[in-house]
Amino acid sequence: MEWHPDLYGGAWLLHRYSDVEWGLRSPLLSARRTGGWVKRLEDRQRRLSRFQALFSRALLFLDEPEHGPLRDLLALGFSAEAMAGLRPQIHQLVEDAVIGLPEAGPFDLVSQLAQDIPIRVMSALLGLPIEPSPALREASDAIAEFIGSPSPTEEIALAAQEATLLLANLFSRPERLEPSGFAARLMKTEPTRSDPLNLTAQLVMLLFAGHETTRALITNSVWAVVSRPALWQEFVSGRLEAAALVKEVLRLDGPVQMTGRRVKHDMQLGGRSLHSADLVLLHLGRANRDPERFLRPDEFWPQRAEGVGLAFGSGPHMCIGAALTRMEAIAVLEALRTHRPGLRLVPSQVNGAASSRSANPVYSSFKRLMCTTEPATL
Ligand code: HEM
Repeated sequence: MEWHPDLYGGAWLLHRYSDVEWGLRSPLLSARRTGGWVKRLEDRQRRLSRFQALFSRALLFLDEPEHGPLRDLLALGFSAEAMAGLRPQIHQLVEDAVIGLPEAGPFDLVSQLAQDIPIRVMSALLGLPIEPSPALREASDAIAEFIGSPSPTEEIALAAQEATLLLANLFSRPERLEPSGFAARLMKTEPTRSDPLNLTAQLVMLLFAGHETTRALITNSVWAVVSRPALWQEFVSGRLEAAALVKEVLRLDGPVQMTGRRVKHDMQLGGRSLHSADLVLLHLGRANRDPERFLRPDEFWPQRAEGVGLAFGSGPHMCIGAALTRMEAIAVLEALRTHRPGLRLVPSQVNGAASSRSANPVYSSFKRLMCTTEPATL
């Protein structure tokens, strides 16, 4: 365990698999971590109060006793039954999106495919008629930038606040909600009925969590397979399952690389003194490459039987959208195999067509992923 003064105003970093798993499950650490982020912008705190009020209520940032009952409620929207009900819709909208890709010439897989699918899926799940738009994408990017910034500036925090309020506004007119959708059903339940802000906080979190991460999983999955032409051929010929590929992408290049906790009370850990409210960063991405846990950890090996590791976390806060996001990424790979078997990456030297990774330390994703369906350009 190391202390990093430069990360998020100072943080302990855990990166061994067993340590990270301990951190995710330990009752000695608290999930309530947002206060510290906003407090570092001390003098502007009042300008960020609406942001803090919404952000700090999201399930992800709650401890017991508030966390458990709220999680049970939200998990209903992601049950096996709910997922089975959504499956045909997801397959249809993915199919339509893939068929609509340009037949020839370079295209950016992020902007032309990956970024709109999660918004359409969340819209179907929540029963909220929202269309993908530049404003929604910018909102998601602004929140991601805030979460990913080791030292958010006032500008970044205010942009994230704007974005959060824009997303919250989508839910401000209940008459727009599909009565059988998950958002409308949630509105009728405790504890959300008695506290509308609480409900809005969960819906905003779902919209953001569902969009940012799934966009990344789709793109990282396509990149992982298409950048290895022999693997893509194995997949196209039916010798490899999309589910196995997505599982290995989650382990080796998971969209969420880090999460955090705060120390509840002064304590000793690994011979070091940790103080109350110290930030502990749990590096899921590095844990998932720990040689003590995974055989040949840096190798992309879809046949391995070691699972996704900590890509979705572990313990009480483990991701509730795991089945949904996997379903989306698998559907995309399968649709590309059917409709674009000649998919290739565009080599970076082609004019203006460079793919680029995002620099956000929390989210592993691509800003652009340039592809073509013309034969053998790699
Ligand atoms: C590849 C995609 C995804 C990845 C890698 C991912 C990763 C994670 C991780 C690591 C956590 C635990 C964080 C912690 O313990 O601090 C988490 C929690 C959560 N995720 Fe995901 N997630 C993904 C997709 C989704 C989707 C699609 C949704 C919903 C639409 C979602 C909703 C949530 C929620 C609500 C929590 C909080 C659960 C709780 O606090 O009890 N995630 N996710």
